[in-house]
Amino acid sequence: MIQRTNHYFIVIASLLLAACNSTTDAIQNPREHISINKDWKFYKYDSHTVADDLYYDVRPEVTDVNDSKAADTPATEAEKLKASEKALKSYILPTANAFIKDSSRHYIRPEGNPEIDFPFVQSTFNDTDWEEVTIPHDWAIKGPFQEGDNAEVTGGMGRLPSNGVAWYRKKIDITDADKNKSVFLDVDGIMSYAMVWLNGNLVGGWPYGYNSWRLDLTPYLNFEGDNQLAIRVDNPNHSARWYPRAGIYRNIWLTKTHQVHIAQWGTTVSTRDVSEDSATVDFSVSVDNDSETSTEIDVVTEIYAKEDSVSVVALLPKKTLTIAPKKSKKISGSTTIENPKLWGPPPTQTPNLYKAVTTISKNGKVIDSYNTSFGIRSLEFDPNQGILVNGELVKIKGVNEHHDLGALGSAFNVRAAERKLEILKEMGCNAIRMAHNPPAPELLDLCDKMGFLVIDEVFDSWERKKTPHDFHLIFPDWYEADTRAMVRRDKNHPSIIMWSYGNEVGEQYTDEAGAEIGRKLVEIVKDEDPTRLTTSAMNWAKSDMPFPTVMDVISFNYQGEGIRQDPVFDTVTNRIKTKPQYEPFHKKFPNKVILSSETASAASSRGIYLFPVTDKISAPMLNGNGKDDTISQVSAYELYAVDFGSSADKVFASLDKHPYSAGEFVWTGFDYLGEPTPYYNCRSSYNGIIDLAGFPKDRYYLYQARWRPDLPMVHILPHWNWPERVGKVTPVHIFTSGDGVELFLNGTSLGKKKKGAFEYRLRWDDVIYQPGELKAVSYKNGKVWAEEMVKTTGVPAKLELEVDRNTINSDGLDLAYITVRVLDEEGDFVANAENEIEFTVDGPGALIATDNGNPCDMTEFPSSKRYAFSGMALAIVKSKSGQPGTIKVTATSDGLELATVEIESK
Ligand code: GAL
Repeated sequence: MIQRTNHYFIVIASLLLAACNSTTDAIQNPREHISINKDWKFYKYDSHTVADDLYYDVRPEVTDVNDSKAADTPATEAEKLKASEKALKSYILPTANAFIKDSSRHYIRPEGNPEIDFPFVQSTFNDTDWEEVTIPHDWAIKGPFQEGDNAEVTGGMGRLPSNGVAWYRKKIDITDADKNKSVFLDVDGIMSYAMVWLNGNLVGGWPYGYNSWRLDLTPYLNFEGDNQLAIRVDNPNHSARWYPRAGIYRNIWLTKTHQVHIAQWGTTVSTRDVSEDSATVDFSVSVDNDSETSTEIDVVTEIYAKEDSVSVVALLPKKTLTIAPKKSKKISGSTTIENPKLWGPPPTQTPNLYKAVTTISKNGKVIDSYNTSFGIRSLEFDPNQGILVNGELVKIKGVNEHHDLGALGSAFNVRAAERKLEILKEMGCNAIRMAHNPPAPELLDLCDKMGFLVIDEVFDSWERKKTPHDFHLIFPDWYEADTRAMVRRDKNHPSIIMWSYGNEVGEQYTDEAGAEIGRKLVEIVKDEDPTRLTTSAMNWAKSDMPFPTVMDVISFNYQGEGIRQDPVFDTVTNRIKTKPQYEPFHKKFPNKVILSSETASAASSRGIYLFPVTDKISAPMLNGNGKDDTISQVSAYELYAVDFGSSADKVFASLDKHPYSAGEFVWTGFDYLGEPTPYYNCRSSYNGIIDLAGFPKDRYYLYQARWRPDLPMVHILPHWNWPERVGKVTPVHIFTSGDGVELFLNGTSLGKKKKGAFEYRLRWDDVIYQPGELKAVSYKNGKVWAEEMVKTTGVPAKLELEVDRNTINSDGLDLAYITVRVLDEEGDFVANAENEIEFTVDGPGALIATDNGNPCDMTEFPSSKRYAFSGMALAIVKSKSGQPGTIKVTATSDGLELATVEIESK
């Protein structure tokens, strides 16, 4: 009774509010956006058996399985294949139509259903034996890792069983109330070649696994009985140069709307004439009329500050339009916001957000309401300085990121992504390049909220191929749809500063023909979003080639520092060798900003220091100099890089010598699954500034020193546990945001050093090791700025646990990241400890993965046991849905004192 009264009151209140025209939120929204992540059934064929016959298209046979070739190996021409008649592609291609502008090029679906009576797609099929899974789901991440030379999935793709064909089935709830509605399946991402059946009917699908897409389920709904969804996923091996993901790895939704409704990603907002006093907001809305009758509607958009649903700050007043049956219409308008709170990157600016609420009414009754989050900011691209955000020059201190969440793989989790961004932010990073595909939508929401600048990128290959089964196979059919899908979905994110339509594509080498494809892609991007600039990253950049003439912003991968300029490459003739390219490009393109979209590709294993140490500022990895083939590890002196890369120091110098450069995106922020250069017997990369577990490598502090010059910090490397090096030269390198350092060994000064021009570390290369204490005192402007000490420790004696947050949400999604450190009796960190640690969890939480950041650790991620790597390991615990309480995590190890930590799940 009480509830009813309340409800009644709320209804009245909302009507009153609506009448005052001050909010639409309280009005019951006929649009429903329903998560259908739960209760899926999953089945995967053994990758060796021939799966069913329901394939999208034939694929070329794989003849070249060498995935350890250098990343800068040029792409090669695609093989031409004749499609098989049995292929289902003709039923799938029409899904692209909404993203193909020229309607004469729309695909026409064959009549009816393909003539295949396949049991999995029928609602009568009994799937009780199938595995129960929750989406986001990554079928491969649990492993096991495939080891050895005969592994099916090799190092490049992470040695995880991502390949093969699988099915997902679920019954969806459709009731009589859904009659006369439009019902859509909204997929944030399925890897890959997804084909969807509803009630035995093939509805459509989307091959490119990196994009989001929608299917109209309405014609296939069953109002008399079950509604059975069946999704076939086909993930080819040799499809990527990294771990590609596997399955329905992002959220999946059912969207139910009035037949007249705002189109998919149907609102577009941009801002201009931005100042602190006012800004103009341009807004457009596309409305679809799926009904059989012409309909007159009113469209209103109200703008609110993001966290405030009461005070309307600007209004796009009512417009009335009539939409013919089965047609769409777009309306546009502009409004001014006085004293806008601008969106901009911290620490100097604040990422303020706004929300536009668009309401569609018919005969005075609301039939659709849709929220669009956006930010107000101006971007200027100055070829002599870089990028200005709201008039302030913001140098890009960026990183490249692949999609994976380390030990959690590709199954998207908001907290896992947020933690990555927090760690990057702490380092001073202000920008992310989404290499080389559009990210989860929630990751862009986080970037908006936290104020990161983003390059959204769509392809790693066009017509030419990098791996036998990559996107080139479907480029001719899908390039327009996939390019438009990225821009249409993501265009309202203030974090996105430019669109990248390619990474190191083979068409760099094909002169005018390659540039022409680029031109086509740029045209598509600009048609979807005329407000942002475009780019395409080049690792083979010549200022006189046609390729760069097409892009607005020049994107260099490794070109600024030059490639393979070290004398060790003198005899190498068949690889890219390039002199530094800033000057020739700045001269040839004086009106274009130059940005380094990939720099460094430096490599290291956290906490592993190898001797001797090069005396150069940057060196290629060579066995015995920078890497050790017997342990498959790379030295953390942070001076070594892939053959075409450079150390961080060398990149800094080249940026500082070319101050017109807009900045850099380091390859990469975090280590990622796959591409374990230089050790393809392993499973994850060495390029990260931060390891796969999220533990900073030494390099983290080199970037922090540069990117956060106001943060007092000093960092010493290596650790000081070298019993076998007593009396031997053991270089000590120091990173600091100060301008000089005095180093002490066991109380004796080893001298004071100051950073010279284009120097970014202080090095004492001739320190003779003796156990004890290394202490660094850093100075800035003559005053003590920061201090650090590293000391020789005793043997491992106990464990220490640290959790990233003591309280998490009991929603079954939130995560606690627990770091374990091995300590000696005195409580000092034993940086070279390798003890095996076992984790147990009591209370309402589940241990879902462990890791240690060792790219060569082949222990499956879900294992509760993990060897410490350089003294550390990680456990990831997930809350249990609807079960608040105390989660207790215990870490034990033979012969060591155990440790526990408690987390409140609320
Ligand atoms: C680049 C490439 C990246 C990655 C990197 C590794 O050439 O664009 O995707 O492969 O090399 O060093």
